[in-house]
Amino acid sequence: MHVLLLGGTTEARRLAELLDAGSPGLRVTSSLAGRVAAPRRPPGQVRVGGFGGVDGLARWLREHDVDALIDATHPFAETISFNAAHAAALTHTPLLALRRPGWVPVEGDDWLPAGSLEEAAELLPTLGSRVFLTTGRTGLAAFADLDELWFLVRTVDPPGAPHPRSMEVLLERGPFRLDRERELLRRFRIDVLVTKDSGGAGTEPKLVAAREAGVPVVVVRRPPVPEGVPVAAEPAQALAWLAGHTDGEVGQGS
Ligand SMILES: NC(=O)c1ccc[n+]([C@@H]2O[C@H](COP(=O)([O-])OP(=O)(O)OC[C@H]3O[C@@H](n4cnc5c(N)ncnc54)[C@H](OP(=O)(O)O)[C@@H]3O)[C@@H](O)[C@H]2O)c1
Repeated sequence: MHVLLLGGTTEARRLAELLDAGSPGLRVTSSLAGRVAAPRRPPGQVRVGGFGGVDGLARWLREHDVDALIDATHPFAETISFNAAHAAALTHTPLLALRRPGWVPVEGDDWLPAGSLEEAAELLPTLGSRVFLTTGRTGLAAFADLDELWFLVRTVDPPGAPHPRSMEVLLERGPFRLDRERELLRRFRIDVLVTKDSGGAGTEPKLVAAREAGVPVVVVRRPPVPEGVPVAAEPAQALAWLAGHTDGEVGQGS
């Protein structure tokens, strides 16, 4: 049995590890987009780079005899998830989306929802002047015209233009610790935080630090999972789904 695992997330790597450790009858190929210069590679077979849209992915599924497709990409990787849904339908390949749940505000949080990065940028001037921007390297253009604001931008790889005129870049990869997040807010006198609703424990401490410091958080809402695609919230659920599509070959060695 051959499973294609669309990755680029902690959960995708974790699922690849679980399958690698406990499913002798199963062949897994993890697919990475190739955005990050030095990605953390999952165990097993790995391919890197785009497929060439829906048709390219459908061709890949056929040519490599893929029996099941798991879309474990980031909740904001909208295009590849759309492509996966369409290519799976074209090729009659069972598809599961593995999506970590979004964050939920608790008492003391001051969250403002935004429908997009552009909407988040519109909100910012009313909220603060020293922004901690954690929405990633590729969406900086949305904030490029906010000349009155100062930005602390945290990304894995250096961002390119267009980007805010006044900014400092922190090149760091999660998970992040609470004490470090508290220190960043203090040291850079941050008065507003911007994040995608990525979910997950690895990047959650910034939300706790913001709550403690009374810093408002602009939370960009996630796009929906394509209609009709079943969703697993964690790798163990994806294993159970796979077992149902692979005659129980999953997890026998674990
Ligand atoms: N968006 C985020 O905030 C975010 C955050 C952390 C990690 N990531 C990870 O970074 C990758 C790219 O994210 P994105 O938002 O740029 O994606 P995207 O906008 O949904 O996808 C753009 C194109 O990149 C290619 N692609 C994306 N994910 C791929 C994968 N796993 N394997 C092979 N090709 C892939 C596809 O190219 P073709 O059409 O040529 O197939 C896709 O059409 C994803 O794997 C995602 O899990 C994204």
